[in-house]
This record gives sequence, C-alpha cells and structure tokens, in this order.
Amino acid sequence: MSREAPPDLTSMLFVPASRPRMIEKARTLPAPAVIFDLEDGVGVGEKRSAREGLVAALAGGWPPTGPVPFVRVNGTTTEHFEEDLRAAAACLPYGVCLPKCESPADVEQAVVMLREFEPGVGIRLLPFIESALGILNAAAITSASDLVVAVALGSEDLAADMGLRRTVEGHELAYFRGVVATAARATGAIPIDGVFVDFNDPNGLERDAATGRALGFGGKQIIHPSQLGPVARAYAPTDAELERARRIVEAFDEAEREGRGVVVVDGRMVDRPIVLQARRLLSTAGQRAE
Ligand code: COA
Ligand code: MG
Repeated sequence: MSREAPPDLTSMLFVPASRPRMIEKARTLPAPAVIFDLEDGVGVGEKRSAREGLVAALAGGWPPTGPVPFVRVNGTTTEHFEEDLRAAAACLPYGVCLPKCESPADVEQAVVMLREFEPGVGIRLLPFIESALGILNAAAITSASDLVVAVALGSEDLAADMGLRRTVEGHELAYFRGVVATAARATGAIPIDGVFVDFNDPNGLERDAATGRALGFGGKQIIHPSQLGPVARAYAPTDAELERARRIVEAFDEAEREGRGVVVVDGRMVDRPIVLQARRLLSTAGQRAE
C-alpha cells in the first residue's frame, strides 16, 4: 500500500490528559505534534477521569492548523486498554500511541479493536519500543500493519528494563536508537527519539536531539513547551548544510551531463550516495518550509 505524505513529527509534545489547562494550551502551541497521554503521564488514581476529561475536551474538534494530535493509551496488557482505545477513537486523533509494544501481536490487537471503535477515518498507529524484548522484535512490530506511521523509542522505560545507567550524553542508548531508527526506516515509518527529561537544560537537549537526528531519527518526544525551540533547531538543516547540498547536486548534475560519476566539491569526493544524502536534506527542508 502506498503511504500518504508523512506529517511533520519533529517535536511530539506530551500533554497529560489529566491536565485540562495543558490540553487547552496545546491547541495554540507551535508544536508540530502533541500526544495526549493516558499512560505514564497520568497517575493510577486519575485514569478514568483523565480519559473522560480528554474526550470531553476534544469533543468540539481540533483546529486543523493545530499540532497533529495523537492519544497514548495504556498498554495492551493493562485493565485500561480497551476503554482507553474506545476513548482515543472517539477523540478522532491522527494517531494512537501504543506503549510497551513487545511483539507484532500488540499492534495487531489494536488494529482489530480500532476497526470496531472508529468510524472509518483510518486512525494511524505509533508503537513505542521500550523493553529488551521490544528491541529484539522491533522490525516485526514496525511491519505489523500499514497503519504504523511512526515508531518511538521509550528510552527511560528501556533503561529501567535493561538496567542501563543513563547519562546526559546518552552513549548508552546508541545501539537501541540505531535499532529503532532502522526498524522504522525499513518500513517507511518515522522514527521518534526518546525524551530529554531535564527541561531546564536547552543546550543539553539540543545536543541530544542532534545526536538522534544524526542516528536517523525524524523527530523527538518532548515534555515541555520550552523544549520546542532546541529540538526545532537540532532538526532544521543549517543554511550552510543547505548551501553545500545545493552545490553538491549542481556539481553532480553537471558531471553526469558530461558522463562522469564522481566529482570533487570542497576537496571531498562526491558520488551517487553523497548526492542522495544531499537531495534528501533538500527535500526535507522543502517539506518543512511548506
Ligand atoms: N503541555 C502543554 N502545556 C504545558 C506543558 C505540556 N506538556 N507543560 C507545561 N505547559 C504549560 C503550563 O500549563 C504553563 O502554562 P500556563 O502558565 O499558561 O498555564 C506553562 O507551560 C509553563 O509550565 P511550567 O510551570 O513551567 O511547568 P510545570 O512545572 O507546571 O510542569 C511538567 C512541568 C514537567 C510537570 C509538565 O511540563 C508536564 O506535565 N509535562 C509532561 C509530562 C509527561 O507527560 N510525562 C509522561 C511522558 S514522558
Ligand atoms: Mg514509556
């Protein structure tokens, strides 16, 4: 099945569904996407009220020019799953986030139930991979359904499951980031990097987001509106990168017209894969500018 144009998911802001003020605020924030959270952002005693409050808050619709809306339900093995999914479907979000996915069956179960609950609008899915078993089954999870539009790394849950020692630099995540990014790209889904919990450290966040982008991620989960700027800066190509990409494409096109496959730009070899990287950078920048 061919996929529609992917949405901009460079920043996905978590909004706890138990916080009506934050839900209201989310309508007008310049966030590319928001995730209304029924899972770990909501206390165990607030699950039902958060679910009902979210449905009521979104009953009047969502601004078409607002952030792309997602709802994160509790996991398939929890007592909340079915009611959460029913509520999520009633909110008519762009997508439903499925936490703690460990096998394709988690995605398949959501597909079957959503088909029953939603009125045929084609709600997409965003599985979270956040356990050792999830990492082992990452490729099977991302390819479980054509509805999977993006895949998120849940780095803090994964750290708990794996016994990782978290650092600000995040070197301990490199392998897991690579697995999730690869599994997502292999199926045409957008890989979404984990949160950076210190929302008072914009420079640390920008470095962390840049590392994720360099490893192939297409966006990042965030927890506070103040994190929008640093992540946007990390994901936007710089003027220098764009300028270099244009020169690479021009030089290569000219070389090809002359029958050559390799050129030198700024003292560096440029061949087909380098040109593909440059074209990709230019097309991503073009999409964001629209
Ligand atoms: N979504 C929407 N608005 C948010 C927001 C969010 N995630 N976080 C903060 N805001 C708003 C606040 O409502 C406040 O606006 P207001 O003064 O107009 O009401 C403004 O931004 C400043 O908030 P601030 O006082 O700095 O934040 P806080 O101390 O109240 O909350 C957190 C800090 C971390 C608790 C809060 O940002 C949050 O709940 N984030 C999401 C956490 C989450 O979902 N975790 C689970 C997934 S990892
Ligand atoms: Mg998690």
